[in-house]
Amino acid sequence: MNIPVLTIDGPSGAGKGTVSRLIAKKLGWHYLDSGSIYRSLAIATLQQAVDLEKEAEIVKIARDMALEFECGDTLIVKLDGKDITDQLGLETTGSAASIIAALPEVRRTLLQKQRDFKQYPGLVADGRDMGTVVFTDARYKVFLTASAAERADRRYKQLKQKGIDANLMQITQEIEQRDFRDMSRASAPLIMASDALYIDSSEMTIETVIEAVLNLIHQDFLLP
Ligand code: DC
Repeated sequence: MNIPVLTIDGPSGAGKGTVSRLIAKKLGWHYLDSGSIYRSLAIATLQQAVDLEKEAEIVKIARDMALEFECGDTLIVKLDGKDITDQLGLETTGSAASIIAALPEVRRTLLQKQRDFKQYPGLVADGRDMGTVVFTDARYKVFLTASAAERADRRYKQLKQKGIDANLMQITQEIEQRDFRDMSRASAPLIMASDALYIDSSEMTIETVIEAVLNLIHQDFLLP
């Protein structure tokens, strides 16, 4: 049985998480937030005070770590039995994840953990290389992006809403730095798959983005 996979790749803050989660819910498919796997590994590495460039040591941590995902209205992640959800969204975690994600052996070690999510009746996979490396044969591929200024603005508003003090200029810089690192690394850089649908969400609402993605799937079902 060919299990359908929808990959949604793009830079951080483009709305991939929200869009992917809602689409998975609508279709009744499983959801893989691959960034949270890199983020969890970053937390484990920081906890063990291992240098973020030490590839062999980080590979060992990746092999040994036990991750549990509980997908409800929000995603709960447990690392070796401990709830690390609160730390997942921190900027320090995101930056550390982006650094260790550039290590090719680390990426190879995490491949199977990600592919294990492909289960009946379908999977929505969100990340940077879902359509180009992890699920190259996915039936549906989307590249979701937005301008750096718009993504920084969204992140700024999100933090403010949570009552967290934020600086728009600093957030813009961090986003641009992370984009550069994710796009320029040698191993599985963030690029659009040649067979992906390109969506720039800068001027779109979440609802219109979801509609565009669902169209892709529905069109396919209508074909003879
Ligand atoms: O999507 P995110 O912001 O949670 O991802 C955090 C970092 O993890 C991101 O900067 C790069 C890395 N990542 C990756 O290299 N490949 C993926 N498929 C997902 C995330």
